Amino acid sequence: MREKLQKILDAARREISSTERGDYESLRVKYLGRKSELSLLLRQLGSLSPAEKITLGSLGNQIKSEITGLLEQLKQLPVEGPLKNFDPTIPGITQELGRLHPITQTTNELIDIFQGLGYDVATGPEVELEKYNFDMLNIPADHPARDQWDTFWVKQVDGAPDNVLLRTHTSPVQIRYMLEHKPPIRIIVPGRTFRYEAEDATHASVFYQLEGLLIDKGITVANLKATLQTMMHQIIGPDVKIRLRPSFFPFTEPSFEMDIWFQGKWLELMGCGMVHPVVLKNGGIDPEKYSGFAFGVGIDRLVMLKYNIKDIRYFLSGNLDFLEQF
Ligand code: FA5
Repeated sequence: MREKLQKILDAARREISSTERGDYESLRVKYLGRKSELSLLLRQLGSLSPAEKITLGSLGNQIKSEITGLLEQLKQLPVEGPLKNFDPTIPGITQELGRLHPITQTTNELIDIFQGLGYDVATGPEVELEKYNFDMLNIPADHPARDQWDTFWVKQVDGAPDNVLLRTHTSPVQIRYMLEHKPPIRIIVPGRTFRYEAEDATHASVFYQLEGLLIDKGITVANLKATLQTMMHQIIGPDVKIRLRPSFFPFTEPSFEMDIWFQGKWLELMGCGMVHPVVLKNGGIDPEKYSGFAFGVGIDRLVMLKYNIKDIRYFLSGNLDFLEQF
């Protein structure tokens, strides 16, 4: 009987240590169940002499508790499942990283360029007051220039003191900034702008501008031209050709459009000029002492030029085939 007990223990050790968690129940029944070999042997103890009963009984109990221990260890193993078929050589599931929108990328490049020239970045509200968007920029209510900017007006609550609109350009930030800062002023204002107009390949109703404003003593058109040239060299390349063409904005005098030579013709990219004395006064700055220049570039148009994009409507389309190219 001693040998039989020992054999049961050996078999249990071998089998339990080389098996998996899922086999726990069948092994428990096999080694400790009521009909197991061990239980049957222990039941025969009654027919033995008292001395044998004591020694074999205690051996039997030792074996039973060792097997119970082995089964407990088995129970603690992780449940077999996908891990059973786990192949560490299979490549993992990669999470695709997002990327910055091309307009954001170019805006960041412009910010880098102008920070290198000592400019600060300023911002202003997209939902703007009429007085900052038009009046204080020398565009009175009956001025014909106001027709240039067909505007999204925000419905007014009765009795509100000002008319509210979605800003049609980033220029209102010029006034806001001048009222809070003394010259010298050197800022750029990247931001979203809105116009109520029919969309086509080069016109969107939601688009982006970068405003520039520099005010100091003795600033001239030469400073404006040199700044724009530096900007275009850095963003497009050293071979870029630009020109200033006379134009009209009520808030600059003289005013220009800056064109760029692109695919065999001149393409309008921004409005600019010397800040109008009335605008300086509205901003609390003495035009006798200070002068300055301002410009407003269409960022969408700049990105189109940079990457040869044919239609401005791609930008806000959410089209991944388009966006994943950048
Ligand atoms: C302005 O918005 C003036 N505030 C610019 C300015 C600033 C002049 C400071 C002088 C001093 P304009 O309406 O031309 O000007 O717009 C400026 C640029 O914004 C355009 O050259 C063009 O690049 C871009 N732009 C204008 N309208 C749209 C549109 N609907 N869709 C995309 N880009 C546009």
